[in-house]
Amino acid sequence: MSSTSTAIETRDHVMARAKSESLISPRFYTTDYKAMDKLDMSPLRAEWDAMLAEYEGDNNHDHFTRDESFTSEIRELPPELKQEFLDFLISSITSEFSGCVLYNEIRKHVDNPDIKALMTYLTRDESRHAAFINLSLRDYGLGVDLANLKATKSYTYFKPKYIFYATYLSEKIGYARYITIFRQLERHPELRFHPIFRWFERWCNDEFRHGESFALMMRAQPHLLRGANLLWVRFFLLAVYATMFVRDHTRPMLHQAMGLDADAYDYKVFDITTEITRQVFPLSLDTDSPRFRAGLSKLVDCSLAYTKAKARGGLVGRLQQAGQAVRAAATFVGLYLHPVKRHDLPAQIRVAPSW
Ligand SMILES: [Fe+2]
Ligand SMILES: [Fe+2]
Repeated sequence: MSSTSTAIETRDHVMARAKSESLISPRFYTTDYKAMDKLDMSPLRAEWDAMLAEYEGDNNHDHFTRDESFTSEIRELPPELKQEFLDFLISSITSEFSGCVLYNEIRKHVDNPDIKALMTYLTRDESRHAAFINLSLRDYGLGVDLANLKATKSYTYFKPKYIFYATYLSEKIGYARYITIFRQLERHPELRFHPIFRWFERWCNDEFRHGESFALMMRAQPHLLRGANLLWVRFFLLAVYATMFVRDHTRPMLHQAMGLDADAYDYKVFDITTEITRQVFPLSLDTDSPRFRAGLSKLVDCSLAYTKAKARGGLVGRLQQAGQAVRAAATFVGLYLHPVKRHDLPAQIRVAPSW
């Protein structure tokens, strides 16, 4: 956490953080349920039914309970690391629960049996994930009141196509983030400063499968993946990558404690995500380009300077905030216009979680 943010010490602080509306904090969504109800999965019947059967099998039904050694592995963390870890838990639980709420609302509003079945499984998985993280906040005498969050957090309306792009990407990038952390701590168990990371391998396979579902839904509507819609694909790729990059760079200690440098970690996550997204998107961001990387670093600078200006307050602070916002927007546009890589979509849609 940057030094200018308020420390997380009470349940009220936790709720304030979970409800925060900054550009990089996780959001809650609503959508057009009638349009969702009309989705026709029959063009991909075989793949779709195979996927629903995997959910039905529920191979993680026994995963989200703690084992005996869990509590004994919880240690006292240095104060700064503890703050960043709490922030990580709160933003993770908020995004898990955001999925849970959205999927559950879609489930309630549709009659289409394909979509209803999928949304029931997704809600089941995300509610397990959110509840499991909440147990770890409870160890610190904290916790997110999920019912309260559902009732009081503000919601953003997204057309179904934006839901597809954004949700697909957040599921896949979620997989890439959890598996990268898991593999690093598998190699360096001495750096595993909290037992929750032991759960990430089977956990991220849920996220991977959630992403597969959205991949099938997009491939069943090919117009979403060509023509002018590719401008939206490009936008969502950049928005999701840039948000993650900025957010991770406000928690440098968390990555250092795991022996990961925030830059190296994020670029590794981008590589994995980009490789997976070739299943649906005929373009990808050139995250290896030095100019692209310089743009992302500049966004981090803008964000830190913005936070500092906000803490300063007064007229000067407000002017500085406005200046940083304009600088960030211009940088984002520059990144958006950076040339992308193009490729054909594969005939075989499904990908295996092999990272
Ligand atoms: Fe999840
Ligand atoms: Fe998920």
